[in-house]
Amino acid sequence: MPFDVRPCRDREEFDRALYAIGQNFFGPPTEEQLDRFLRVLELERMHAAFEAGEIVGGAGAFTFDLSVPCGSLPCAGVTVVGTYPTHRRRGVQRSLMRAQLDDVHERGEPIAALWASEEPIYGRYGYGLASWGGEVSISREANAFARPLERRGQARFVSQEEAKKLFPPVWEALRAERPGVFSRVEAWWETRRLRIPDEEAAHPRRFVALELDGATQAYAIYRTKPGFEGGVSTAKIEVLEALGMNPQATAEIWRFLLDIDWIETVSASLLPPDHPLFLLLAYPRRARYRIADALWVRLVDVGAALSGRAYAGGGSVVFEVRDAFCPWNEGRWRLESGVAARTDEPAELALDVDALGSAYLGAVSFAQLCAALRVEELVDGAAARADALFAWRPLPWCPEIF
Ligand SMILES: CC(C)(COP(=O)(O)OP(=O)(O)OC[C@H]1O[C@@H](n2cnc3c(N)ncnc32)[C@H](O)[C@@H]1OP(=O)(O)O)[C@@H](O)C(=O)NCCC(=O)NCCS
Repeated sequence: MPFDVRPCRDREEFDRALYAIGQNFFGPPTEEQLDRFLRVLELERMHAAFEAGEIVGGAGAFTFDLSVPCGSLPCAGVTVVGTYPTHRRRGVQRSLMRAQLDDVHERGEPIAALWASEEPIYGRYGYGLASWGGEVSISREANAFARPLERRGQARFVSQEEAKKLFPPVWEALRAERPGVFSRVEAWWETRRLRIPDEEAAHPRRFVALELDGATQAYAIYRTKPGFEGGVSTAKIEVLEALGMNPQATAEIWRFLLDIDWIETVSASLLPPDHPLFLLLAYPRRARYRIADALWVRLVDVGAALSGRAYAGGGSVVFEVRDAFCPWNEGRWRLESGVAARTDEPAELALDVDALGSAYLGAVSFAQLCAALRVEELVDGAAARADALFAWRPLPWCPEIF
């Protein structure tokens, strides 16, 4: 039975809706956590599911832009989706997703994106696995670069206040370079990336700016976890974010991290498969890269989403799109010269909207989707034609779970 779902009206409702995910993992949100959340998640973008006047589920959406090939589009950043364990598997989440996607559609946001807690959950709502990310663990013995690096920059520790000014241009450079990167407002930097959470008090995150030719061209946010075994340091560094505006700056910030004394292992996560580190390192195999799904994308308005990104090649393709959850997208779409429009021409590729979401940022090819029985090729060569259009380098990268 569908549940009543509507946006939260006040702080108390927001509190209880946010606690829906908390009920599965944490205690109730504190006043301070609520204040912080409300700085980045608008009250009316937190939906609550009600049963007999009581909130039993919640789902939020950040308002931001997501970089797409050669552009950036309004995107709902879906977050804190939860059902009270007392009400699981009764359709609470389905009701929340229904209301949320209708709202996103009304707002005119052509895409929605999320990090899935478990892979099988979101395909039924039209989200497709749209990018890859993985973790590395680099030991001291295997941290050499394959080629000598001439270091020209200088790293220095900066305060949170300085980081707030120096880091955003580097993040924006990543947004210009790669699809899959969301826009960060100042409150995001303050409350999510640069804030030192209480549980980190003993080993807080550190902020490093790399200056090159008179400007901050790279930065790193990392934590050190000290340790000893038999008097020998087993300390680890956990890299939370390390970005450079260009190849030299990226190489230098990584060299800085890898060279810190007394550290046995440097680990990082969410790195895309084409991260420069893999070819910088002399022993990429020993970085033990382990890949997993990263950002999932939902085309909420197929026409606007497809017309909102750039394409590498020419040519055209006609899709038959199935979208049971958002039927306004269903039907035949012709993509040509960067514009998607409705057509009566015969379909060349037939697919569910989640498969189109997988191909959207360029991380998954139509050839892969055909091989996995996710796309039907109705006209020989159509998948290759679609790949010539959609393929994109560099690959998408979302460096933060939201
Ligand atoms: C994931 C979660 C929100 C699902 O909520 P729910 O109210 O039980 O889901 P629903 O009853 O609406 O189920 C909708 C469908 O999803 C399926 N489903 C839900 N959770 C699933 C899971 N973890 N794995 C596989 N399928 C799942 C249901 O079987 C159902 O399938 P159907 O449409 O074929 O009948 C809930 O289990 C939860 O709060 N989990 C902990 C927090 C979490 O993981 N949140 C997601 C953050 S991204």
